[in-house]
Amino acid sequence: MIIRPKILIARAVFPEIVAKLAKYFEVTPNQADELWTPSQLIAQLQGMQGAFTMGGERIDAALLAACPELKICANMAVGYNNFDLDAMTAAGVLATNAPDVLTETTADFGFALLMATARRMAEGERFLRAGLWTRWSYDMLAGADIHGSTLGVIGMGRIGQGIARRGAHGFGMKVIYHNRSRLDAATEAQCKASYVSKEELLKTADHIILVLPYSAQAHHLIGAVELALMKPSATLVNIARGGIVDDAALAAALRNKTIAAAGLDVFEGEPKVNPELLTLPNVVLTPHIASATLPTRLAMANLAADNLIGYLINKRPLTPLNTVL
Ligand code: DGY
Repeated sequence: MIIRPKILIARAVFPEIVAKLAKYFEVTPNQADELWTPSQLIAQLQGMQGAFTMGGERIDAALLAACPELKICANMAVGYNNFDLDAMTAAGVLATNAPDVLTETTADFGFALLMATARRMAEGERFLRAGLWTRWSYDMLAGADIHGSTLGVIGMGRIGQGIARRGAHGFGMKVIYHNRSRLDAATEAQCKASYVSKEELLKTADHIILVLPYSAQAHHLIGAVELALMKPSATLVNIARGGIVDDAALAAALRNKTIAAAGLDVFEGEPKVNPELLTLPNVVLTPHIASATLPTRLAMANLAADNLIGYLINKRPLTPLNTVL
């Protein structure tokens, strides 16, 4: 009898992905989508060689020590701040993520959130639904222009580049960017983007979008000091990760009109949202859905599944994040 590797799918996922994995593995699915505490996750992972994770499951040294048979965790997300990569490498556990397949979808959403924020779309919709539209006035819900303005992209990876291309080619924006390292000249030309310091970007951009990965260094990259450098007419959009923006400082800046508006798809401590943000009119709030189209989510799920199959069956993962012996 062939013994098949055991894997846990930590959250509900497309039924066809469960079926695909069941061809290779003894699968424990979680189609009821129960949310497990860290100790419940450890209990679920006993005897498992693989985990299909969504990005909310913390994989750290304590979990790894308690799950000695684990060999791979495959995130159905491009972000992997739920993984302690050093601890995983030390424990010989492979980490994989799901890059590329979500790039254009996420860039579309980043641009949509920018437009909704600058042009006050959500505020206008709430205003209309509340029956407040009784007369028109010349400055009613007047926002900021996108076309011809300066777009500042912080984090110029694949998604950041997609947003820069949309801004430069589609809307005639001047694009400036800040990144850990400067892009090569050909990529800069393709995105029509110029590299600037973070401080210059904060001071000169009309619209700033955050698309960088979360790291300890990126924690509260945008706080009270940075918000104070921005133009009072500026908008800030965060589709990266909660914790990159100090949400309390942002709420204060929106309340005091230090900046004009913000669009947030990610939050510190999500799904909880800073209560003050919920009360402010000049912020558009969405529940971490930047990559949420069905074709893209299916592609992400397939890539996570293919990483499990690639590693546990063929020893060839597609998108590894670390090297293990
Ligand atoms: C990602 O892929 O990292 C997105 O934020 C969805 O979790």
